[in-house]
Amino acid sequence: MNATESRDGQLAQMKALRAHARGGPEQLRYEDAPRPAAPTGSDVCVQVRAAAITFDELTWSETWESDGADRTPVIPSHEVAGVVVATGPDADGFAIGDEVFGLVPFDRDGAAAEYVLVPAANLARKPADVPDVEAAAAVLPALTAWEALDEHARLAAGQRLLVRGGTGGVASFLIQFARAMGVEVTATVRSAASVEAAKQFGAHTVLVGDEPNDIPPATFDAAIDAVGAGTPEWAYRAVRPGGRVITLQEPPDAALAEASGVEAMFFVVSPNAEALERLADVLARGEIDVAIAATYPLSDGQAAYASRSSTRSSGKTVLVVSQS
Ligand SMILES: NC(=O)c1ccc[n+]([C@@H]2O[C@H](COP(=O)([O-])OP(=O)(O)OC[C@H]3O[C@@H](n4cnc5c(N)ncnc54)[C@H](OP(=O)(O)O)[C@@H]3O)[C@@H](O)[C@H]2O)c1
Repeated sequence: MNATESRDGQLAQMKALRAHARGGPEQLRYEDAPRPAAPTGSDVCVQVRAAAITFDELTWSETWESDGADRTPVIPSHEVAGVVVATGPDADGFAIGDEVFGLVPFDRDGAAAEYVLVPAANLARKPADVPDVEAAAAVLPALTAWEALDEHARLAAGQRLLVRGGTGGVASFLIQFARAMGVEVTATVRSAASVEAAKQFGAHTVLVGDEPNDIPPATFDAAIDAVGAGTPEWAYRAVRPGGRVITLQEPPDAALAEASGVEAMFFVVSPNAEALERLADVLARGEIDVAIAATYPLSDGQAAYASRSSTRSSGKTVLVVSQS
């Protein structure tokens, strides 16, 4: 029996959250969808237990198209934890029954569904003691934070980092990893109610508001915008000449970067087995606080995506698809 067939040989369906047209949470429907085909090549079919949300993914072009071709209807949520139910012939290192976590390529159907296909290179074994919700929630923020810090910010102990938006999923990992490196971390938050959360992640200093007057110019060795699009001018000015500004949602403003004499860059995280193994170790040793804002059943997926605009706790929002 392959992943598309039920026992009587009929094409099998699964429950999924799908959008049939571009847009925001209002487009998402909990409905029947075809199960993925049997995995080929190095793909692995994962029965999803938890799928974490990045709210901005509904704005990413990769969510809606692949190589310029419209992909609707699409299944969102690319951060997954679950169990292997089928493997392609080249999916080395994984067997049916393995508990895994990882990242679904952004231009493929995601994990807001009962089953998802993931390349073996984008998966790692989930440590047995780590809950599925935490494993799914950690994948994208941790890999993004490591790539931002190790490959782009390239900070040394004692240097200063500004994180714009100190309570989000990526920010929570940025702050914890940077602090562990001995970096002095300042975070901005939207309101006074969020100060404690950013401090708990390890920020040495927390500034409230999105136009902080109290940042002297040229103070930081690097700034990372963990809010989203539209990195404000003050974030460029806050960095010393020769320092780095890293944006995560869209390419930086070249004119603002030039005016402040900073190097500015944007990247899209590239999953790799080494980073996933490193994350599995960090999670297994309990070295990181994985902040969960809320969990929702898959059937309430639309509400989960819509929760962005409500008052939320800090950290990741996660869909619980099935229990172990
Ligand atoms: N390039 C990549 O590879 C990559 C990978 C992952 C994520 N990303 C991008 O990184 C960004 C962050 O992702 P995420 O998952 O961490 O998002 P998230 O969990 O939604 O976090 C964004 C945070 O920014 C805060 N915020 C919003 N406006 C603010 C303001 N004016 N001042 C201070 N804080 C503010 C929000 O707080 P409130 O709750 O108060 O609104 C929220 O906590 C997104 O744009 C995402 O697309 C990029």
